[in-house]
Amino acid sequence: MAVPFFNIHHSFNDGAQKSLLARWQRILQHGGFVNGPEVRELEADLATFLEVPEVICCSNGSDALVLALRAADIGPGDEVLVPAFTFFASAGAVSRCGATPVFVDIDPVTYCIDAEHAVSKITAKTKACMAVHLYGYPVDILALAKTLESAAGRPIPVVEDAAQAVGAVHPAGPVGGMGISAGWSLFPTKNLGAPGDAGFATCMDKDVADRMRRLREHGGGRQYYHDEVGYNFRMDSLVAAGVLELLPRLVEFNAARRVGAEHYRELFTAAGLTGAIVLPEAHPGHVYHQFIIRAAQRDALKDFLHAREIGCAVYYPLALHLQPCFADLGGKLGNLPHSETATAEVLALPIYPGVTVAQREELVAAVAEFYAQVGAVG
Ligand SMILES: Cc1ncc(COP(=O)(O)O)c(C=O)c1O
Repeated sequence: MAVPFFNIHHSFNDGAQKSLLARWQRILQHGGFVNGPEVRELEADLATFLEVPEVICCSNGSDALVLALRAADIGPGDEVLVPAFTFFASAGAVSRCGATPVFVDIDPVTYCIDAEHAVSKITAKTKACMAVHLYGYPVDILALAKTLESAAGRPIPVVEDAAQAVGAVHPAGPVGGMGISAGWSLFPTKNLGAPGDAGFATCMDKDVADRMRRLREHGGGRQYYHDEVGYNFRMDSLVAAGVLELLPRLVEFNAARRVGAEHYRELFTAAGLTGAIVLPEAHPGHVYHQFIIRAAQRDALKDFLHAREIGCAVYYPLALHLQPCFADLGGKLGNLPHSETATAEVLALPIYPGVTVAQREELVAAVAEFYAQVGAVG
């Protein structure tokens, strides 16, 4: 049985497609294609769902991070602490603002930024810290901000990269609402995926939000008058309509991801595989954008599963301090050991809400077969 890594037709099923076509027809009739009524409706619905007062819809998650950073006044001469193990956009956004990413190692258990290591990288130029809720694991942003402030003797604002964490919750506060600002992605494969590129920024403060709204439209409050240089980061109404279609099902989608994650845990444990693989850290607020195992002989296991048409993928194969585009920052192999080890060991398994019980059983049976062949690793 093939096990696809992802299948868009689970969310955009026949019913959703029919209803979306009706929404799209209404847009064709009213003609407000860019930042139209659907975009405003989506901003209001996301604010309610996420329990944050300010939502600024925009072109994609990468641009949302630029907005979130610019709103925190990040610019040339500033340093921003960024985990080295994340999607490129977390650090790319810092560079796009003219600032310098300073790479920090991760906590090997959660894969998120290591607060103590972040402290060791603080300098007089440190202007902010980017925390990534990687794979959907909710970071305690308030605790991170407190640790940074007591070490620096001044507040260091935390910008949240919540691209993979829509719907994730932390007892300390809403994900995306604990830092100064946050950037989120609605890329089609995300937990809440648009039919196209899309993203949004959030924050708790009206003035910060208004600045992001201006930056989204070339830095102008009034048409053709520009207080600062901004961007064209507007969202298309057609894309917003697709997100409006799926948002009411997000709780159900995330619940299905959690059920899938628990099932994997049971299957791997029952198969006696928890020596060869390491299961992800559990957290009640986790939304499992990815279900990540650490696997002995990861690349051979990946090839073995692919040969059986079982989907799996490596997020991410090269840490950011070792990326060619950041070579001038002087990062060297060995600098950030937890990030580097993760790149060699992590493997994402299919976790989108449409994965069936039988498909998870098939996958775990195939993993057991692989380790039986190559010899169990303790
Ligand atoms: C952690 C993280 N940050 C930022 C982004 C950027 O989002 P987008 O692809 O919508 O630009 C992504 C998307 O993959 C992501 O996973």
